[in-house]
Amino acid sequence: MRVLLTGSSGFIGSHVAEALECEVVPADLRTGVDVRDGAALDRLLPGVDAVIHQAAKVGLGVDVADLPDYASVNAYGTATLLAAMARHGVGRLVLASSMVVYGEGAYDCPRHGRVRPGPRRLEDLAEGLFDPRCPLCGSVLSPSVIAEDAPLDPRNAYATTKLTQEHLAANWARETGGTAVALRYHNVYGPRMPRNTPYAGVASIFLSALLSGRPPQVFEDGGQRRDFVHVRDVARANVLALGAGTAGALTAYNIASGTPHTVGDLAAALAAHIGGPDPVTTGAYRLGDVRHIVASPARAVADLGFTAGISFEDGMKEFALR
Ligand code: UD1
Repeated sequence: MRVLLTGSSGFIGSHVAEALECEVVPADLRTGVDVRDGAALDRLLPGVDAVIHQAAKVGLGVDVADLPDYASVNAYGTATLLAAMARHGVGRLVLASSMVVYGEGAYDCPRHGRVRPGPRRLEDLAEGLFDPRCPLCGSVLSPSVIAEDAPLDPRNAYATTKLTQEHLAANWARETGGTAVALRYHNVYGPRMPRNTPYAGVASIFLSALLSGRPPQVFEDGGQRRDFVHVRDVARANVLALGAGTAGALTAYNIASGTPHTVGDLAAALAAHIGGPDPVTTGAYRLGDVRHIVASPARAVADLGFTAGISFEDGMKEFALR
């Protein structure tokens, strides 16, 4: 099998390249290929059996000045790639998507069961009440796990363009009979994670602080829950996804460890491995942040045969010490 891998020099893409045991055709800005360049794709796609599409503008963006770039790289880039795949009869796509397509996580109200909270209230955040409230009765909600059929609610440019990629891929699959698999990554961490950029995730921010002798700044009360999944597990999920899916449709999978941890746990684990300083819980909050988002990994287990193999303890130790 021959696989075109976009974003092959990036954080996740470089691990996917290492995990693939077949011929890999790399397509990356660093190899001189922009996914928005249909003519460049035309030169690479002949003889390719499947595309793994990791190239993207990532992170949450800085401000609205970033909007054209997100739309161009993520939406237009994917559209260009799909059109080129159709020209060359490439019938299989694995797409890097994200848990950010869900917006908030899943929550249960003691009176109303499963509900979808709106954005958290400023007054609540200012008083240190960080858990969202029931939109019907105002009760504080308890977090649950989110499955792939949950309503989608992208809340920023990155999330919107990741969901657009899924929609474009579904459209391509319907029109061409191709098979599309979207992998909704949870919080990916591990070797080569981008550092010191506005787009860095929390694990990398905490590690950078510790390595320069500063305490990690834990926002809110540190109780916000995430699923930290190791990049080598994510790479393996991509390889498994090459054999999954349904012709003519897009199927989405949560790619997560299945074992949630709090941001406070994360700071404590990294600080312990580096030997301090101890994390500081600041009570500060970012308005756009999701409180808890924890995945159900059940569909990926059932269909892809994917179970994360690297525990939080082992993965964080390696991440801190290498
Ligand atoms: C992150 C990514 C998002 C990606 C998703 C899934 C970023 C900025 N966000 O979303 O693009 O799709 O994972 O892989 O890369 N926090 C602190 N202290 C800090 C920084 C953050 O306590 O110094 C807290 C935040 O308040 C939040 C949590 O850590 O509660 C996670 O933050 P972050 O990693 O930035 O974003 P996610 O929402 O998890």
